Parts: sequence; C-alpha cells; structure tokens
Amino acid sequence: MSTARRYDLYSHDFRVETHQTYARMRTESSVHLQPGLDGETPIWFVTRFEDVVAMLTDDRFVLDPALAFTPEELAERRADGTAPDLDPRVNTSLLNLDGADHRRLRKLVAKAFTPRIVEQQRPRIEEIADGLVDRVAASGRMELVDDFAFPLPITVIAELLGIPIDDRDRFRAWSSTFVTPALTPELQEEAARHGEEFIAYLDELFARRRADPAGDLVSALVRAEDEGDHLSENELYSMVVLLVVAGHETTVSLITNAVLALLTHPEELAALLSDLSRISSAVEELLRFDSPVERTITRWVAADVELGGQRLAHGDLAIAVLGSANRDDTQFVGADTLDLARADTRHVGFGRGPHFCLGAPLARLETEIALITLLERLPSLRLAIAEDDLYWRPIPLFRSLASLPVEWDT
Ligand code: HEM
Repeated sequence: MSTARRYDLYSHDFRVETHQTYARMRTESSVHLQPGLDGETPIWFVTRFEDVVAMLTDDRFVLDPALAFTPEELAERRADGTAPDLDPRVNTSLLNLDGADHRRLRKLVAKAFTPRIVEQQRPRIEEIADGLVDRVAASGRMELVDDFAFPLPITVIAELLGIPIDDRDRFRAWSSTFVTPALTPELQEEAARHGEEFIAYLDELFARRRADPAGDLVSALVRAEDEGDHLSENELYSMVVLLVVAGHETTVSLITNAVLALLTHPEELAALLSDLSRISSAVEELLRFDSPVERTITRWVAADVELGGQRLAHGDLAIAVLGSANRDDTQFVGADTLDLARADTRHVGFGRGPHFCLGAPLARLETEIALITLLERLPSLRLAIAEDDLYWRPIPLFRSLASLPVEWDT
C-alpha cells in the first residue's frame, strides 16, 4: 500500500475521535489509500467535499462489479476472495446496481417517496410521535433510542410497506445484521440464520399479499413482479430488505444525533425553540453536523481515474466519507460549529448523484416531526448521561449511538 500514513478508521477510539481524525486526513490529502475492515484490503477513502461530489457523480465508480470486470475476471475474484460472493436474493437492490437496471428499479418505487406523497403521511407520523411521548411523559425519563427514535421510523416504514408492526423486533434484529460487519464465525453464522429467517418471513408476506392485495407498497411490488418484466424475484426480495434496512437504521441515528447536538448546544436550542418554523433548515444543519450515514457503500473503480491528486486504478475500491465532506471548511464556513441559521446547508448527508437517498423526503419529515414533538411536549429535556459516557456503535457505515438516556421535569 503506497500510503504514507495509516489512520485508525475502525476502532472504538476512532469512534470517539471521528471528526478529529477526518480533519487530520482532509488536511493531509483528500484521497487516502487505507486498509479496509479486514485490516488488509486497500480502499481509497475520499474525504474532501469537492472530491466526494466528483466521485459520486462519476460513472467510473460503480456498485455492480459486473460493470468493472469481465465475467471471467469476476469469477476469478470471487474464487480468490477479492470480490464478495453475495447472496443475490438480498443483494440485487438499488444499492448493488448502476445504469439502466438501477433506473428501472428506482422508477418502480420513486413515486411512493416524492415530497408531495410523503407529506400526506404527516398527520399519521405526528400521531405516532405523540403516542410514543404519551407512554413516557409522566416518568420524567426515557432511553431515547429504544423508546422513541427507533419505534418512530420503523412504525412508519412498516405501515408504508404493509408489514405487521408486531413483527418489528424481529425486523430490528435482521436489519441490524445487515449493517453490522460479521467478523467472527459466530457472527457469520448468526448473519446467515437471520438472512434465511428474513427471506422465509418475506415468502409468507408476499404469498399473503398475492392472495389478498392491499394498498401498501409490498402489494404494489408483488404485482410488478407478477407482471413480469419490471421486477425479478431477487429484485423483489432485495428491494423490500433494502427499504426495511435503509428506512429505519438511518433515521433512528439522525433523530438521536440531532437531539444530542441540540442538548449540547443550548444557545442553538433556545434560538430554535423561539422560532420552530425554522425546523426544516435546522434539520439540514443537524444532518450536516453529525451525519448518520458516515460513509457510502464501497464502489469499484471501473476505469482508471484521477481524483484529489491521486490515480485510482481500474479494479480499486473507493468509499466517499460523507461525514468528513460535511465538515470540510472549504465548503462550509466554520464547519465544526453547529449553526442552525447557516445559509448554505447543501450537504452530502443523503449522498449525491444517481444513488441520492430515495427516502430523503421521508427522513426529513420524520425528523422534523420527531424534534418538534419532543421540544414542544418536553421543553425541559436534557441529557441523563455524561457526554464522555456515550457509546457509538462499532458500525463503519453509520455514526450511530447505542443509547441516549434523557430526562425532563414532570
Ligand atoms: C436520516 C435518514 C437517512 C439518511 C442519512 C440516508 C442516507 C442515504 C445515503 C447517503 C444514501 C446513498 C448511499 C450510497 O450512495 O452509497 C442513501 C440511499 C438510499 N436510501 Fe437513504 N437515508 C436515510 C433515510 C432513508 C429512508 C427513510 C429511506 C426509506 C425508505 C431510505 C432509502 C434509501 C434507498 C432506497 C437508497 C438507495 C437509493 C439508490 O441507490 O438509488 N433512506 N440513503
């Protein structure tokens, strides 16, 4: 590996020093060749804003290895372990494909996630958020992740897809498996078991919706598969798995990180409380300040490319570090400062380019409602944990707290 310096990008210490580490990387260079999670595989980490945008809008960076390699090369790589051999039933999703296949799949679900359609869910999301606060209001304390930030988005996405909410704890376990690296044989076994359980569950769900279609997204997708040319069976499974995983892992962290940022910046919080009509731009700044999706999915380099003064070769791997780009001082003045009145919040927290987050309007609406509900109903909300005791989950992709105890006056 040609890199001059190795950064610690995976340990618990890194989780405590995340923003400081990225600041050091950005100062030294934009694009760094670093070992991946296995400690060996070299991956280019792209850290400065303009190069992150350039990478995500350049079609030489692909998710589908079939676009980077010939079938023979790919078979060879799968055999020697330099390209993963993924289960096609859960890995034929928007985040595994590029170009025409990606556009076809995205078109099938895009209508359900436009800002106008999503806005229609506002009253129901408000009702869910209020119901969650009702349950804990009299007790004067809650664990924000379990009691509020997790059940809100999972209930919303479950209702949208038509998944019975009673099954949500199973979904939480399966979903967590998809984003947690399985580094030990025990974890690999658990991941395989969870994958099979998820598929078996979806088999039953699809059969029920086929027999008795409803107005939900799963019924619409099952119909598209039955009609043949829009959606294959693997694509159907993969789409629902992606929507379940993407639809809640991320929003849980946005709500939690946003509450943490507000409670540790009392002047910003007071200014927001004095004018809650600024909530939309506040959510954008909170998303920039502590981005829940810290790194994109790894891309393959399909053809040699120059980026940030480095030459990335065909067959290399690259990750755009969104959480770093969003703290880049050359893009955002005083980028390490939370400024809810910031004029330019054109961050990359939802990615950029063709894979820009499909669920962004929903995530924005859920987070706005979550924050307004908490701030209006529990105005004395404060942390019930010292900042030094916060524990960030060891998930490379996400910046995500394991828990956030909070309290208020009753
Ligand atoms: C705060 C919450 C969220 C954040 C920060 C977030 C962030 C992102 C990012 C960064 C990507 C691009 C990944 C990449 O290029 O490697 C992405 C893609 C995606 N997100 Fe989200 N997301 C959030 C919520 C949601 C929700 C609620 C859904 C709902 C269904 C969703 C569905 C998706 C899907 C389907 C994709 C793949 C789009 C494609 O490849 O065309 N996300 N998201």
